[in-house]
Amino acid sequence: MNILVTGGAGFIGSHVVRLLVNSYPQYHIFNVDALTYAGNLENLKDIEDKKNYTFIKADITDKEGMDSLFKTHRFEAVIHLAAESHVDRSISDPLAFVKTNILGTIHLLEAFKSLWGGDFYGKRFYHISTDEVYGTLGEQGLFTETTAYDPNSPYSASKAGSDHFVRAYGETYGLPYVISNCSNNYGPNQFPEKLIPLCINNIIHHNPLPVYGDGHYTRDWLYVIDHAKAIDVVFHRGASKATYNIGGFNEWKNIDLVKLLCGLMDSKLGRAPGTSEQLITFVKDRPGHDLRYAIDASKIKNDLDWKPSVTFEEGLEKTIDWYLQNETWLNHVTSGAYQGYYNKQYH
Ligand code: NAD
Ligand code: DAU
Repeated sequence: MNILVTGGAGFIGSHVVRLLVNSYPQYHIFNVDALTYAGNLENLKDIEDKKNYTFIKADITDKEGMDSLFKTHRFEAVIHLAAESHVDRSISDPLAFVKTNILGTIHLLEAFKSLWGGDFYGKRFYHISTDEVYGTLGEQGLFTETTAYDPNSPYSASKAGSDHFVRAYGETYGLPYVISNCSNNYGPNQFPEKLIPLCINNIIHHNPLPVYGDGHYTRDWLYVIDHAKAIDVVFHRGASKATYNIGGFNEWKNIDLVKLLCGLMDSKLGRAPGTSEQLITFVKDRPGHDLRYAIDASKIKNDLDWKPSVTFEEGLEKTIDWYLQNETWLNHVTSGAYQGYYNKQYH
């Protein structure tokens, strides 16, 4: 079976590609990625020569390009992760998010529909989405699969739009889709614009740790390899036309998380306890900042027998170790354009 994974050179996509290539020699995995600032083939060095893996540099916003790739490789399944993924960037450049996240998704749906006509037997279109489509929670409650969509940022609005199109293609054309909505991921290979790798990088270099607002915003954190395993499970055993929420059962207020990271990094770097906490700097809040995300992941747990395998303490330790052992990767991704982004965002 030829499987298309989009966005496979990014953070989550690279872990998904590795898992599928190594676990399923009977599949051929085609990784299609435009290699934006967030895509990095260094993430996949260890599997690039595998016989059941092919990388293709292509942009999902190129309709003819996508149609042609589908005709050539006759993809029987799609696992769609390619997206603009950073909320702060969506606030300064919403159109880029509409283009990739909505239009790009529609091009893939169209290419898949045209290739198979109405004959979708044994086929699957798996759309990877986010819990941010549900908007924000107050101090109580959890997002379930039936929570109404209520996105607040251009990023989450664009992901919500793409989810709606996937579902609509299921209802209108019978396209066999599945969608999962996951909470915040962390782990190796995450681009250091996101909170955890940004703080790790700044602690290493004794730079300020920018905490938005009062730091009392809450997120539900999941180790990226556990998300990749959940994607494997949903891809193979998820019901057709179903949605699954994926989460870490692991809520943290940002300020507590940053303090935890500071303590762990001080001990890893041999610095006196309390050293890194002095770098914490409260900065201007993110506009439209969602107060709290928390996932009720009981459906995937009960129906598909998935739950996180890594505790937060283990996951953070593995993550910090990875960044400390991969300084070349970190230096590559933070040279050049990253400096321009960083200065604009934080100064
Ligand atoms: P990422 O930004 O690290 O990677 C995105 C990848 O998509 C990059 O390799 C990039 O080059 C590629 N890409 C971007 N635009 C493209 C285009 N037009 N054509 C082809 N490729 C393109 O993102 P991530 O954090 O790995 O997220 C992957 C997916 O998971 C996204 O759909 C995101 O919405 C979703 N998600 C992320 C999280 C999280 O915490 N990071 C949580 C839930 C869901
Ligand atoms: O919930 C899933 C989503 O999680 C994914 O869909 C997104 O792709 C992913 O980027 C992530 O979105 P967040 O906005 O929650 O992640 P981020 O790492 O940007 O921010 C986490 C929290 O930390 C959030 O409350 C904002 C705050 N923050 C972030 C940055 C970058 C800061 O306080 N300071 C910062 O410098």
